[in-house]
Amino acid sequence: MPLDIARARAETRGCESILHLNHAGSSLMPIPVADALIGWQREEEFRGGYETAARHRGMLENFYDATARLLNCHRDEVAFIENATRAWDMAFYGLDLGPGDRILTAECEYGSNMIAYLHRAKRTGCVIDIVPSDNHGQIDVAALDRMIDGRVKLISISHIPTGGGLVNPAARVGAVARRHGIPYLLDACQSAGQIPLDVEEIGCDFLAATGRKYLRGPRGTGFLYVRRNWLATLDPPLLDQHAAELISETEYVVREDARKFENWECHFAGKAALGVAIDYAVGWGIGAIRDRVQPLAADLRTRLATIPGVEVLDEGAEKCGIVTFRKADEGAEAIKKRVADQGIHVSVSGDSGSRVSYDRRGITQAVRASVHYLNTEAEIERFARVVSES
Ligand SMILES: Cc1ncc(COP(=O)(O)O)c(C=O)c1O
Repeated sequence: MPLDIARARAETRGCESILHLNHAGSSLMPIPVADALIGWQREEEFRGGYETAARHRGMLENFYDATARLLNCHRDEVAFIENATRAWDMAFYGLDLGPGDRILTAECEYGSNMIAYLHRAKRTGCVIDIVPSDNHGQIDVAALDRMIDGRVKLISISHIPTGGGLVNPAARVGAVARRHGIPYLLDACQSAGQIPLDVEEIGCDFLAATGRKYLRGPRGTGFLYVRRNWLATLDPPLLDQHAAELISETEYVVREDARKFENWECHFAGKAALGVAIDYAVGWGIGAIRDRVQPLAADLRTRLATIPGVEVLDEGAEKCGIVTFRKADEGAEAIKKRVADQGIHVSVSGDSGSRVSYDRRGITQAVRASVHYLNTEAEIERFARVVSES
């Protein structure tokens, strides 16, 4: 069933005034999500934060059920964390890595994740090995398989990179990880809400994502999934008295579910509203969202490619809603500003966020126009026309 785009737009106040192509940065919250967020904060103003949380405990608990439905996991395997980076960190820094232990990752790995690998390499002597890309530009799964030896302690990739339209073959990577019994950490920051995520099918042990992008939740929200068999052994790098209980002057007991990776104090309004956002996205159907987003983005690539001087930069056998390009006679920041003057929102992907991939491909900056299901064909046509008009 095709999505009812008129309804999606009627339920998104932001659509009335702007042409938003920055869903990979931060999407537009739908009305039920914005109302849940603002309503919660309004209630905090009058009633107090603790009292509001106590009155709406069900909404906070719904976040775990909604995320479990999104990922096909159990609610006990889910932690609410303020963003994808910290969620990812809680798993990554919880893993034991020693001198000579190898981390395998992909060329298009996210900048912050690369920094964390380098950080730990400095501290522990672990080694980062970058798996080459195949001729589609995505991780070469056969090469990954060949690179595995007894020293590989982690396979860790971004499902969709921040600065390009490819979709890495996450489930094929998972099959390799499973076969060799290696932990697998998936950064699903750009894929959550955009393409279906089933942790059983993907075979990942840990998955991190954010709320504000394709899930259309509030800023300052995210989550971590930790597979049940890791819950007892994955040691949180930080603990507070929500994650653990102090039972004597010298002892504490760490809780058994994934909430041991959470902070006690957090963005309560955001957590409740993220649950609403996930329910809302699942209500549309994530498969249906993918089936709407991918052809729209393909249409945009086709239109951009006909503009003289424009080079579309997206790789991948499967491509997603992120469309990246550069223009011979106009810089990315200049394009961003020029289209913003006409009420169109895009972002610029810099080389730091995609260092290995961008350096190897000779890219310093790209315009990133990210499409979501609520965008229309007319908007795509208009944006391409504005790009061509410099
Ligand atoms: C692939 C990828 N991973 C991680 C992140 C970081 O997400 P957050 O800002 O929620 O920490 C981003 C943000 O753009 C991203 O694109």
